[in-house]
Amino acid sequence: MRIILFGPPGVGKGTQAKLLTEEFNSAHISTGDLLREAVKNMTPLGKKAKEYMDAGNLVPDEVMIGLIEEVLKSEKAQRSFILDGFPRTVAQAKALDRMFEKMGIALDAVISLRVEHDEVIRRLGNRRMCRTCGRIYNLDQLNGDMDRCKNCGGELYHRDDDKPETVRHRLDVYLNQTKPLKDFYRQTGRFIQIDGMQEIGYVHKQILDIIYKNRNHH
Ligand code: AP5
Ligand code: MG
Repeated sequence: MRIILFGPPGVGKGTQAKLLTEEFNSAHISTGDLLREAVKNMTPLGKKAKEYMDAGNLVPDEVMIGLIEEVLKSEKAQRSFILDGFPRTVAQAKALDRMFEKMGIALDAVISLRVEHDEVIRRLGNRRMCRTCGRIYNLDQLNGDMDRCKNCGGELYHRDDDKPETVRHRLDVYLNQTKPLKDFYRQTGRFIQIDGMQEIGYVHKQILDIIYKNRNHH
Protein backbone atom coordinates (compact mmCIF):
# COMPACT_ATOMS: atom_id res chain seq x y z
CA MET A 1 0.00 0.00 0.00
CA ARG A 2 1.43 3.33 -1.08
CA ILE A 3 -0.75 6.34 -0.51
CA ILE A 4 -0.53 10.08 -0.19
CA LEU A 5 -2.66 11.85 2.39
CA PHE A 6 -3.28 15.28 1.00
CA GLY A 7 -4.89 18.45 2.28
CA PRO A 8 -4.43 21.81 3.99
CA PRO A 9 -2.94 22.28 7.47
CA GLY A 10 -4.99 20.79 10.28
CA VAL A 11 -7.27 18.54 8.21
CA GLY A 12 -6.08 15.47 10.08
CA LYS A 13 -3.37 14.04 7.83
CA GLY A 14 -1.11 13.13 10.75
CA THR A 15 -3.98 11.75 12.83
CA GLN A 16 -5.21 9.51 10.00
CA ALA A 17 -1.70 8.45 8.98
CA LYS A 18 -1.00 7.26 12.51
CA LEU A 19 -4.21 5.19 12.59
CA LEU A 20 -3.35 3.60 9.23
CA THR A 21 0.20 2.91 10.35
CA GLU A 22 -1.07 1.00 13.37
CA GLU A 23 -3.49 -0.98 11.25
CA PHE A 24 -1.23 -1.86 8.31
CA ASN A 25 2.22 -1.57 9.82
CA SER A 26 3.20 0.87 7.07
CA ALA A 27 5.84 3.54 7.30
CA HIS A 28 4.42 6.96 8.20
CA ILE A 29 6.47 9.48 6.24
CA SER A 30 5.59 12.93 7.57
CA THR A 31 7.90 15.58 6.16
CA GLY A 32 6.71 17.99 8.88
CA ASP A 33 7.71 15.50 11.62
CA LEU A 34 11.06 14.84 9.94
CA LEU A 35 11.76 18.56 9.71
CA ARG A 36 10.71 19.22 13.32
CA GLU A 37 13.03 16.41 14.44
CA ALA A 38 15.87 17.98 12.43
CA VAL A 39 15.17 21.39 13.98
CA LYS A 40 15.15 19.85 17.46
CA ASN A 41 18.50 18.16 16.85
CA MET A 42 19.93 21.27 15.15
CA THR A 43 21.15 19.28 12.15
CA PRO A 44 22.14 21.11 8.94
CA LEU A 45 18.69 20.30 7.53
CA GLY A 46 17.03 21.69 10.66
CA LYS A 47 19.06 24.88 10.46
CA LYS A 48 18.03 25.36 6.85
CA ALA A 49 14.35 24.63 7.50
CA LYS A 50 13.61 26.45 10.75
CA GLU A 51 13.11 29.95 9.40
CA TYR A 52 10.69 28.79 6.71
CA MET A 53 8.69 26.66 9.12
CA ASP A 54 8.36 29.34 11.78
CA ALA A 55 7.01 31.73 9.16
CA GLY A 56 4.62 29.11 7.78
CA ASN A 57 6.35 29.05 4.41
CA LEU A 58 7.41 26.02 2.41
CA VAL A 59 10.94 24.74 2.70
CA PRO A 60 12.59 24.92 -0.77
CA ASP A 61 11.76 22.11 -3.19
CA GLU A 62 15.33 20.92 -3.69
CA VAL A 63 15.75 20.39 0.06
CA MET A 64 12.47 18.48 0.35
CA ILE A 65 13.05 16.35 -2.74
CA GLY A 66 16.48 15.33 -1.46
CA LEU A 67 14.99 14.42 1.90
CA ILE A 68 12.23 12.25 0.44
CA GLU A 69 14.61 10.51 -1.93
CA GLU A 70 16.65 9.48 1.08
CA VAL A 71 13.64 8.25 3.06
CA LEU A 72 12.22 6.23 0.17
CA LYS A 73 15.49 4.33 -0.08
CA SER A 74 15.37 3.33 3.58
CA GLU A 75 14.45 -0.15 4.75
CA LYS A 76 11.22 0.86 6.49
CA ALA A 77 9.72 2.37 3.33
CA GLN A 78 10.16 -0.67 1.13
CA ARG A 79 6.88 -2.48 1.68
CA SER A 80 4.25 0.18 2.18
CA PHE A 81 4.07 3.79 3.19
CA ILE A 82 1.81 6.73 3.83
CA LEU A 83 3.10 10.09 2.69
CA ASP A 84 1.85 12.93 4.89
CA GLY A 85 2.78 16.48 3.89
CA PHE A 86 4.66 15.55 0.71
CA PRO A 87 4.34 16.48 -2.12
CA ARG A 88 3.28 20.08 -1.58
CA THR A 89 4.20 21.62 -4.92
CA VAL A 90 3.87 20.47 -8.51
CA ALA A 91 7.68 20.31 -8.74
CA GLN A 92 7.73 17.94 -5.73
CA ALA A 93 4.99 15.77 -7.27
CA LYS A 94 6.84 15.50 -10.57
CA ALA A 95 10.06 14.59 -8.78
CA LEU A 96 8.18 11.95 -6.78
CA ASP A 97 6.77 10.41 -9.96
CA ARG A 98 10.30 10.20 -11.36
CA MET A 99 11.52 8.49 -8.17
CA PHE A 100 8.68 5.96 -8.30
CA GLU A 101 9.41 5.23 -11.92
CA LYS A 102 13.07 4.62 -11.15
CA MET A 103 12.12 2.35 -8.23
CA GLY A 104 9.52 0.53 -10.31
CA ILE A 105 6.68 1.25 -7.89
CA ALA A 106 3.33 3.02 -8.22
CA LEU A 107 0.99 4.98 -6.03
CA ASP A 108 -2.27 3.34 -5.03
CA ALA A 109 -4.16 6.53 -4.29
CA VAL A 110 -3.98 10.18 -3.38
CA ILE A 111 -6.55 10.68 -0.64
CA SER A 112 -7.48 14.29 -0.10
CA LEU A 113 -9.18 15.46 3.08
CA ARG A 114 -11.47 18.48 2.88
CA VAL A 115 -12.17 20.70 5.89
CA GLU A 116 -13.52 24.25 6.17
CA HIS A 117 -10.93 26.89 6.99
CA ASP A 118 -12.61 28.06 10.19
CA GLU A 119 -12.45 24.50 11.45
CA VAL A 120 -8.74 24.34 10.58
CA ILE A 121 -8.07 27.42 12.72
CA ARG A 122 -10.11 25.92 15.56
CA ARG A 123 -8.38 22.53 15.36
CA LEU A 124 -4.87 23.93 15.27
CA GLY A 125 -5.59 26.26 18.17
CA ASN A 126 -6.63 23.16 20.16
CA ARG A 127 -3.86 20.85 19.03
CA ARG A 128 -1.15 19.66 21.41
CA MET A 129 1.73 17.45 20.32
CA CYS A 130 4.13 15.28 22.27
CA ARG A 131 7.71 16.48 22.10
CA THR A 132 9.03 12.94 22.58
CA CYS A 133 6.87 10.57 20.50
CA GLY A 134 5.05 13.03 18.23
CA ARG A 135 1.60 11.82 19.21
CA ILE A 136 -1.18 14.26 18.28
CA TYR A 137 -3.88 15.37 20.72
CA ASN A 138 -6.60 17.96 20.92
CA LEU A 139 -7.81 19.67 24.06
CA ASP A 140 -11.11 17.71 23.97
CA GLN A 141 -9.24 14.41 24.28
CA LEU A 142 -7.11 15.64 27.16
CA ASN A 143 -9.94 16.92 29.38
CA GLY A 144 -7.94 18.94 31.83
CA ASP A 145 -4.89 16.68 32.06
CA MET A 146 -2.85 18.72 29.62
CA ASP A 147 0.77 18.34 30.65
CA ARG A 148 1.90 14.87 29.75
CA CYS A 149 1.56 12.44 26.85
CA LYS A 150 -0.61 9.42 27.70
CA ASN A 151 1.54 7.28 25.46
CA CYS A 152 5.05 8.05 26.70
CA GLY A 153 4.81 10.66 29.44
CA GLY A 154 6.52 13.25 27.23
CA GLU A 155 5.85 16.96 27.39
CA LEU A 156 2.92 18.28 25.37
CA TYR A 157 3.34 21.52 23.45
CA HIS A 158 1.50 23.85 21.13
CA ARG A 159 3.33 24.10 17.81
CA ASP A 160 4.91 27.53 17.15
CA ASP A 161 3.32 27.62 13.71
CA ASP A 162 -0.17 26.97 15.14
CA LYS A 163 -0.71 30.60 16.17
CA PRO A 164 -3.83 31.85 14.35
CA GLU A 165 -1.92 34.39 12.21
CA THR A 166 0.64 31.78 11.12
CA VAL A 167 -2.15 29.28 10.43
CA ARG A 168 -3.84 31.84 8.19
CA HIS A 169 -0.60 32.30 6.29
CA ARG A 170 -0.13 28.52 5.99
CA LEU A 171 -3.63 28.31 4.51
CA ASP A 172 -2.68 30.97 1.92
CA VAL A 173 0.47 29.06 1.09
CA TYR A 174 -1.66 25.93 0.68
CA LEU A 175 -4.08 27.70 -1.67
CA ASN A 176 -1.31 29.17 -3.83
CA GLN A 177 1.26 26.41 -3.95
CA THR A 178 -0.28 23.10 -2.89
CA LYS A 179 -3.92 23.10 -3.97
CA PRO A 180 -2.94 23.15 -7.70
CA LEU A 181 -1.66 19.61 -7.13
CA LYS A 182 -5.23 18.38 -7.00
CA ASP A 183 -5.48 18.87 -10.76
CA PHE A 184 -2.12 17.21 -11.26
CA TYR A 185 -3.37 14.04 -9.55
CA ARG A 186 -6.89 14.27 -10.94
CA GLN A 187 -5.45 14.07 -14.45
CA THR A 188 -3.85 10.73 -13.68
CA GLY A 189 -6.93 9.33 -11.96
CA ARG A 190 -5.31 8.66 -8.62
CA PHE A 191 -7.21 11.34 -6.75
CA ILE A 192 -10.03 10.72 -4.25
CA GLN A 193 -11.54 13.40 -2.04
CA ILE A 194 -13.24 12.68 1.28
CA ASP A 195 -15.01 14.75 3.90
CA GLY A 196 -12.61 15.56 6.72
CA MET A 197 -15.23 17.44 8.74
CA GLN A 198 -16.55 14.17 10.17
CA GLU A 199 -15.21 12.70 13.39
CA ILE A 200 -11.82 10.99 13.42
CA GLY A 201 -13.18 7.40 13.49
CA TYR A 202 -15.58 8.04 10.63
CA VAL A 203 -12.86 9.63 8.45
CA HIS A 204 -10.67 6.61 9.17
CA LYS A 205 -13.46 4.31 8.03
CA GLN A 206 -13.87 6.24 4.79
CA ILE A 207 -10.15 5.84 4.10
CA LEU A 208 -10.29 2.11 4.82
CA ASP A 209 -13.17 1.76 2.35
CA ILE A 210 -11.01 3.35 -0.34
CA ILE A 211 -8.06 1.11 0.45
CA TYR A 212 -10.14 -2.08 0.35
CA LYS A 213 -11.91 -1.05 -2.85
CA ASN A 214 -8.51 -0.42 -4.43
CA ARG A 215 -7.32 -3.87 -3.34
CA ASN A 216 -10.29 -5.61 -4.89
CA HIS A 217 -9.55 -3.87 -8.17
CA HIS A 218 -5.99 -5.19 -8.38
P1 AP5 B 1 3.32 19.84 8.52
O1 AP5 B 1 3.78 19.39 9.83
O2 AP5 B 1 3.12 18.86 7.45
O3 AP5 B 1 2.02 20.71 8.74
P2 AP5 B 1 0.65 20.84 7.89
O4 AP5 B 1 0.62 20.21 6.56
O5 AP5 B 1 0.43 22.29 7.91
O6 AP5 B 1 -0.34 19.99 8.63
P3 AP5 B 1 -0.55 19.82 10.17
O7 AP5 B 1 0.47 18.87 10.68
O8 AP5 B 1 -0.65 21.15 10.81
O9 AP5 B 1 -2.00 19.19 10.18
P4 AP5 B 1 -2.51 17.69 9.97
O10 AP5 B 1 -3.27 17.64 8.71
O11 AP5 B 1 -1.40 16.71 10.14
O12 AP5 B 1 -3.53 17.60 11.17
P5 AP5 B 1 -3.48 16.74 12.53
O13 AP5 B 1 -3.72 15.30 12.24
O14 AP5 B 1 -2.31 17.09 13.36
O15 AP5 B 1 4.34 20.95 7.97
C1 AP5 B 1 4.84 21.93 8.80
C2 AP5 B 1 5.81 22.82 8.04
O16 AP5 B 1 6.91 22.06 7.56
C3 AP5 B 1 5.26 23.50 6.79
O17 AP5 B 1 4.58 24.70 7.09
C4 AP5 B 1 6.53 23.73 5.98
O18 AP5 B 1 7.24 24.84 6.48
C5 AP5 B 1 7.33 22.49 6.27
N1 AP5 B 1 7.07 21.40 5.31
C6 AP5 B 1 6.57 20.16 5.57
N2 AP5 B 1 6.46 19.43 4.46
C7 AP5 B 1 6.92 20.21 3.45
C8 AP5 B 1 7.05 20.02 2.04
N3 AP5 B 1 6.70 18.86 1.45
N4 AP5 B 1 7.53 21.04 1.31
C9 AP5 B 1 7.90 22.21 1.87
N5 AP5 B 1 7.80 22.46 3.18
C10 AP5 B 1 7.32 21.47 3.98
O19 AP5 B 1 -4.81 17.31 13.24
C11 AP5 B 1 -4.88 18.65 13.70
C12 AP5 B 1 -5.70 18.72 14.99
O20 AP5 B 1 -7.06 18.38 14.70
C13 AP5 B 1 -5.26 17.73 16.08
O21 AP5 B 1 -5.41 18.32 17.34
C14 AP5 B 1 -6.23 16.56 15.92
O22 AP5 B 1 -6.45 15.89 17.15
C15 AP5 B 1 -7.50 17.26 15.45
N6 AP5 B 1 -8.30 16.45 14.53
C16 AP5 B 1 -7.84 15.64 13.54
N7 AP5 B 1 -8.87 15.07 12.87
C17 AP5 B 1 -9.99 15.56 13.43
C18 AP5 B 1 -11.39 15.34 13.18
N8 AP5 B 1 -11.80 14.52 12.19
N9 AP5 B 1 -12.28 16.00 13.95
C19 AP5 B 1 -11.86 16.83 14.95
N10 AP5 B 1 -10.56 17.06 15.25
C20 AP5 B 1 -9.64 16.43 14.50
MG1 MG C 1 0.68 16.85 10.51
